[in-house]
This record gives sequence, C-alpha cells and structure tokens, in this order.
Amino acid sequence: MQLTFAASGPVTSGAWIVGALEGSQLTAAAAKADKASGGALSRGLKVSRFTGKRGQTMDVLAPAGVNASRIVLVGLGKAADLDGHAAEDIAAGIVGGLSRAGETTVTFDLDLPKGSKLKPGAFAAHLAMGARLKSYAFNQYRTKDLAEHESKLKTAKISTSDAAGAKKAWAALEAAADGMFLARDLVNEPPNVLSPAEFASRAKQLSKLGVKVEVLGEAQMTKLGMGALLGVGQGSERESQLVVMHWNGGRKKDAPVAFVGKGVCFDSGGLSLKPGTGMMGMKGDMGGAAAVVGAMRTLAARKARVNAVGVIGLVENMPDGKAQRPDDVVKTMSGQTIEVLNTDAEGRLVLADALTYTQQKFKPKFVIDLATLTGAIMVALGNENAGLFSNDDKLADRLTAAGKTSGEPVWRMPLGAGYDKAIKSKIADMKNIGGPYGGSITAAQFLQRFIEKGQAWAHLDIAGVAWQDGEQKPLTPGWATGFGVRLLDRLVAEHYEG
Ligand code: BES
Ligand code: MN
Ligand code: ZN
Repeated sequence: MQLTFAASGPVTSGAWIVGALEGSQLTAAAAKADKASGGALSRGLKVSRFTGKRGQTMDVLAPAGVNASRIVLVGLGKAADLDGHAAEDIAAGIVGGLSRAGETTVTFDLDLPKGSKLKPGAFAAHLAMGARLKSYAFNQYRTKDLAEHESKLKTAKISTSDAAGAKKAWAALEAAADGMFLARDLVNEPPNVLSPAEFASRAKQLSKLGVKVEVLGEAQMTKLGMGALLGVGQGSERESQLVVMHWNGGRKKDAPVAFVGKGVCFDSGGLSLKPGTGMMGMKGDMGGAAAVVGAMRTLAARKARVNAVGVIGLVENMPDGKAQRPDDVVKTMSGQTIEVLNTDAEGRLVLADALTYTQQKFKPKFVIDLATLTGAIMVALGNENAGLFSNDDKLADRLTAAGKTSGEPVWRMPLGAGYDKAIKSKIADMKNIGGPYGGSITAAQFLQRFIEKGQAWAHLDIAGVAWQDGEQKPLTPGWATGFGVRLLDRLVAEHYEG
C-alpha cells in the first residue's frame, strides 16, 4: 500500500474518512463532508447507533454532491485517550473494512482534535502505521481465489497540517513495519521451504542494508564445541546453521547490544515426538529468530545509532536414526553438560550454545533472547503478553516500558534458586526438563545457567504471541504476528542510541 501525506484538500475519488469525537461531535473535516453531501452525515447519525466511540464507523455510500465513492465517519473516542495506539487501531479498522468493501483508494481526513497528547505529524504517522500493518497478507502459495484474499486497496492519503513532521515520524515507523513484515513472512513460510539454510540465506539479504552477516555451518560449530545445538539438529537431513548479524551504527568502541533467537525451523519434538495436533504450527518455532532478523532489519533501515549483534541458532528438530535420544548427555560450548531427558525441550539446548557464543565473542551491554520456548507460558499468560525473565531490574523495567509504547507487551515472571533445583540431573550438570509445574520458569532457569557473571540478560518467551490461531489482533492480520521486532526497536530507540 502506497502512503502519502499532504495538507487536507478536496477528495476526488475513493473513500473519504472523517472523524467524530465521543458524543458524535463532528470534527472540522467531518462538518465539511456533511455540508458537501447536503447533510448526509447528520441525517445518518439520526438513524444509526453511531456515538463516536473509538473505532465505530458509519458509512455513507455514493453520497450526492461529492466525488468520493463513500464517506466514512469514524469514532475517535475521547480526545484525551487519542494516542499512537488508538490512531493505529482506528486506521487498521478502516483499512480492514475498506478491503472487504473492495475500495482502491482511501483518504484519511482526520484532523487531530484538541486535547490529544499527540502532535499532528505523529498522529498522521501512526494512522499510516495502522494502515500499513493491517495491509499485510501472505498469499504466495495461493493459486486460486486470489480476488477474495487480496485487498484492492492500494493507495492511502493522509491529510495532515504537518506533512514534513509526519514524513519524518513515518520513516522510523515504516522501518519497523518492514522489519515486522520480514519476521511475519519468515514465520508464515512453510517448513519444507524454510530450512535452516534457506533461513540463513534470507538473513544474508540484510547485507543490502549494511548489515554484516556471517553464517556458521556444522563443521565450525563442532570446532566451537556447540554440542547442545548440534545435538538438536542431528536427527535432521538439513544442516544446522548459526547466523551472526552485525549492525554497526554506533561509536566504534561501544559494546554492542545483543539479541539471540531460537530458530527451530520445524519442531517435531524429535524422538520425544509430539502428537499430530501439537506439531501443527511448529513451523513457527523459529519466531524468536525471525524477530531478531526483523529487528536487525529495522535498526539498519532507520540507521539506528547503535551497535547491535543478532545471533540466531537455526536447526530442525526431527526423529531419525541419527537423532538424539532421551537419556543422551551433551557437552555445551560453555563446558557444562546436559542430560537430555526430553528431546522436545530443544529450544533451550539451541539457545544455550548461542548465548555462550554471543557473550564470549561480543561482551555485549546486554543480551536478550527471544524464543517460542514453552507451552507453559501460554497457560500462565495466554496470548496477550510475552513472558519476561531477567537478572537485571533496569533492563526488565526498560523492556516493560518499551512493551507498552510498542504495543508488544511483556509481563515479568520470577526466577530463583528454588526453581533451579528442578533441573538438577542425576549424572550431568543439569537436565533439560523440570518437574510438572512452572515449566516456563524452569526453562528460564536453564537458560540462566548459560549467562556469565555480571552479564545483564533478559529472556522473552514468545510462544503465546508469535502467532495467533484464534481471534486476530487489530494490527496483525493472518497468522504470524512479527512480535518482538517493534519491542526491540523501541527499547533501542528509547535507551541505547546516541
Ligand atoms: N516449541 C515448543 C514450545 C511451544 C509449544 C511453542 C506450543 C508454541 C506452542 C517447545 O520446544 C516445546 O516443545 N516445549 C515443551 C517443553 C517440555 C517438553 C518440557 C512444552 O512446552 O511442552
Ligand atoms: Mn519442542
Ligand atoms: Zn520448540
């Protein structure tokens, strides 16, 4: 969808979107549309339930006296509540409705009401963001009924009194949207196509934006002693990969921030095989890695003044004659040993070696890992928040705040010595599963054993938010959400640049 910003002017085609505050109070543009259409909006208000509540709409089709194909009056809610999130949801709702209606062009003529905390340019940019995010679709594999699935809506014009400010704010948001779309594409991609090697080659394409990308194969990882990551991949015909991405936008000597992602391109469970229903959707078990790649893309696209490294461990967890067994003991790059009692608790094994590599090689300011790690996090938090585990209150608070501003919320969960006891092994340094309860926490305790002394660290369990099987959230059409990209981008923008 093409987006443009300009001063409000006559609408010559397509849908003309105007706003009303709660109490059906028409904004100036809405009053203008009402007048131009000979009072169609005023008459409509009398025969509809429209009250101006945020997101409500009232359509007037083929109105007399104007060239627009329709006027849509949209509820802006209370002016004081009209923030970036509200603007995005409003625009997304409109785009959803117009796509279903088959419109090709939309003009948002929503003047910012007095009393909103937003500035006009930011308001316009967030409207654009909502429209863009809602326009996402993944139709590569359809050969039929495309008309039904593809939106005809190709152009969105956004009226604003500050086009220059809007364009500037939009540049940063557009970079985030592009990163989210990349992450969504990777998560949506079927696993026969997206092997670890194919994933790595897609990550390599970030070099076009100035990201340095290295790919390590099994031979190099064997030399590094990554027995845990390699153990997970050994039952697959496809080679495991470790991808290391660098964005150097900061000062030469500054320690980088580091993001580590779980990239299990398909999780069958391995020999601890999942039942068929539990395996469906496990193409998305690389959602953490996808978020890391998407975030790196965003930072590069908006030329963030930060040094950032992204490390993703890419494997396929499959059962074959070479697969690792429950009862195997593997040695990690850190030197610690793990008794693998359940081959389906594989994400932590991949992350263990990726975390060690990242810390030893880059001595980062902080390391944040993202992983679709446990079903248990969905039991705890549902599909609304990612689980946040951290050894550093400052980092945890910053992530929590960035979660609110980005619209990708996280909820802090506990860590503690009591939980750590659950992963004691009878014969090795630890085992890869805990007891029946607190499964997300024992998984996080496991990861913490690979965090070096003094290293600030946070773990985001995104199993409940990386994709959506039920109800769709306003800004995330389809299955994959791209969760994590905007969150990491906000975190960097708010605290680690300049
Ligand atoms: N990838 C899964 C976690 C998962 C489950 C993500 C459902 C999204 C939806 C992970 O590798 C896994 O299988 N975890 C096991 C751990 C258990 C064996 C200790 C789980 O959650 O059941
Ligand atoms: Mn698993
Ligand atoms: Zn998994």
